[in-house]
Amino acid sequence: MSSELTFRGHETQQVNDEYSPKPNKPWLSVIRPIRYMLREQRLVFVLIGIVIASVFFTIIPSSSTSSSSSFSTRPYESDSISYFDRESKTTPAVYKQRAASVVHSSGKIPLGIKRKGLRIVVTGGAGFVGSHLVDRLMARGDSVIVVDNFFTGRKENVMHHFGNPRFELIRHDVVEPLLLEVDQIYHLACPASPVHYKFNPTNVVGTLNMLGLAKRVGARFLLTSTSEVYGDPLEHPQKETYWGNVNPIGVRSCYDEGKRTAETLTMDYHRGAGVEVRIARIFNTYGPRMCLDDGRVVSNFVAQALRKEPLTVYGDGKQTRSFQYVSDLVEGLMRLMEGEHVGPFNLGNPGEFTMLELAKVVQETIDPDAKIVYRDNTEDDPHKRKPDISNAKEHLGWEPKVDLRKGLPLMVSDFRQRIFGDHKEGGSDA
Ligand SMILES: NC(=O)c1ccc[n+]([C@@H]2O[C@H](COP(=O)([O-])OP(=O)(O)OC[C@H]3O[C@@H](n4cnc5c(N)ncnc54)[C@H](O)[C@@H]3O)[C@@H](O)[C@H]2O)c1
Repeated sequence: MSSELTFRGHETQQVNDEYSPKPNKPWLSVIRPIRYMLREQRLVFVLIGIVIASVFFTIIPSSSTSSSSSFSTRPYESDSISYFDRESKTTPAVYKQRAASVVHSSGKIPLGIKRKGLRIVVTGGAGFVGSHLVDRLMARGDSVIVVDNFFTGRKENVMHHFGNPRFELIRHDVVEPLLLEVDQIYHLACPASPVHYKFNPTNVVGTLNMLGLAKRVGARFLLTSTSEVYGDPLEHPQKETYWGNVNPIGVRSCYDEGKRTAETLTMDYHRGAGVEVRIARIFNTYGPRMCLDDGRVVSNFVAQALRKEPLTVYGDGKQTRSFQYVSDLVEGLMRLMEGEHVGPFNLGNPGEFTMLELAKVVQETIDPDAKIVYRDNTEDDPHKRKPDISNAKEHLGWEPKVDLRKGLPLMVSDFRQRIFGDHKEGGSDA
């Protein structure tokens, strides 16, 4: 058996040796794939695939190029020139590039469709200043998301926008992170009156979270800082270049130093992470929708005069303040956000009044017989305050238009309605 097997193997070998290859036919290598393609409509499928791929690659490149330029990887450039100069030299191009990047990377604006309005978050938007700002942004046609924990704000301040598809209200404390796709962030969330800010240190953590959001989604960020960063000023009037005279451990420090830290964080995110920022230093502002009885001097006097209570003057009443009507402030904030300068910018009315002069205007406007009572002054109360607004005039083309005697009556009618229940929610504006 075994020899037989061996023999067969040899036989096979012989046959192979005798094999002579067929002549080469090169056209077969072309014909075969063509035949293969024509079978079972494979060609049709290939052509459809090519059409889909061409459409896809003609549209996609524009967005992928833009989205590759990330905000966070473009640190801000020069450090040696002033905020005003630096911003005017470098920002417009950077911002435009970033704005384009946001638009493409987030896919908010489908190609070929014109942008209708911005998506804007207003933290603290249910508060006094915030709600007036929201009104202006809504009137401009933007989509507005209000983020507020209602610590001092009220739903009534924004409820006239309920039902508008461009408006959203989120109850949220900004000390907790939040992710929203937006183009701009107006960061106002912070209790602004002495009776409230001592209980809610929002400034540092809240600002950090909102800056983180701005960095993440490439939004422009505006901080509402305050004239309190100048403390009890040794320079008068106060220019933005003045570094202030602030008690770091006093009862007002959580607010003053909190806002100073917020400014520092804002500039650090700007320089270090390339976030587009704006800083407003707001001086005393008044108007409809201010909290009643929150310890701020204008609202105090107006509420007291309406209730036929004596006006409480702290100290000798000779300390000075400047009073800005809320519509002027909102105009300044919007110009700052839309402009090309980081700031900080003083936004306030340079008209300077002593507390006694203010009390007199309130008497003239509401009740000439209103009495004045004196109380001990509060700790670290600044002696004088008056903004130098030359920078805002020059760089933002902004200055206040409503003086105290014109603005106060507008606030009084809102307060009267709220105190005496002659109800009309929302208040009025100048
Ligand atoms: N009004 C002024 O005279 C004045 C002056 C200087 C600076 N500012 C600044 O302007 C901003 C607005 O001030 P305002 O006068 O409208 O005060 P406001 O108290 O009326 O408004 C602040 C809003 O922020 C909300 N808020 C507070 N803490 C929050 C938190 N942790 N999370 C979410 N929301 C929170 C409040 O509920 C309120 O709606 C503040 O940042 C304030 O420091 C105001």
